[in-house]
Amino acid sequence: MELKLTPLFSAASIQQRVIELARRISDDFADRPLCLIAVLKGGVVFAADLMRELTIPVTLDFIRARSYDGANSTGQVKFTTMPTHPLAGQNILVVEDILDTGCTAVSIVERLRQENPASLAMCTLLDKPCRRKMPVNADYVGFTIDDLFVVGYGLDYEERGRELPDIHVLETRKA
Ligand code: XMP
Ligand code: MG
Repeated sequence: MELKLTPLFSAASIQQRVIELARRISDDFADRPLCLIAVLKGGVVFAADLMRELTIPVTLDFIRARSYDGANSTGQVKFTTMPTHPLAGQNILVVEDILDTGCTAVSIVERLRQENPASLAMCTLLDKPCRRKMPVNADYVGFTIDDLFVVGYGLDYEERGRELPDIHVLETRKA
């Protein structure tokens, strides 16, 4: 089945915003070593672009959180990939594709805090604050969007669309 897509952010506008975020992050962490933790899988494209626009040295690691889904989602999250670097005393920046209800982000922050980092901040390319269920906000936000389902630039619909250079709204047609 073909995905019906409407353009939202072009690759050029994403690149421009990534450069702006990278400038702020480079300034904020100019005198502190920074450890990027990209959230698999969606955050990988953003993290790859962001790290190459930073003007400070960084390390890169990954985390993967899976929500238990099913009819009665408990909001419980299981980590199927964990960073391999020791994180105690590190300055961590979690790099996410999108902040939606905030359940995943809260679980990631709680889990990473257990490693006793020196600091823990979050950067998300997209933010849907209107969908928030948990009290969490990112320190760095690329674009704030309405309650839309988007794909491209790492974001998927059932694993499809991650490779698209632009971000598109997925039209959900009611049968
Ligand atoms: P929560 O609700 O825990 O969800 O903040 C974050 C995760 O939900 C997925 N998500 C999306 N994926 N387009 C996507 O491709 C979207 O519009 C969207 N909204 C939420 C995503 O995996 C994210 O990490
Ligand atoms: Mg997904």
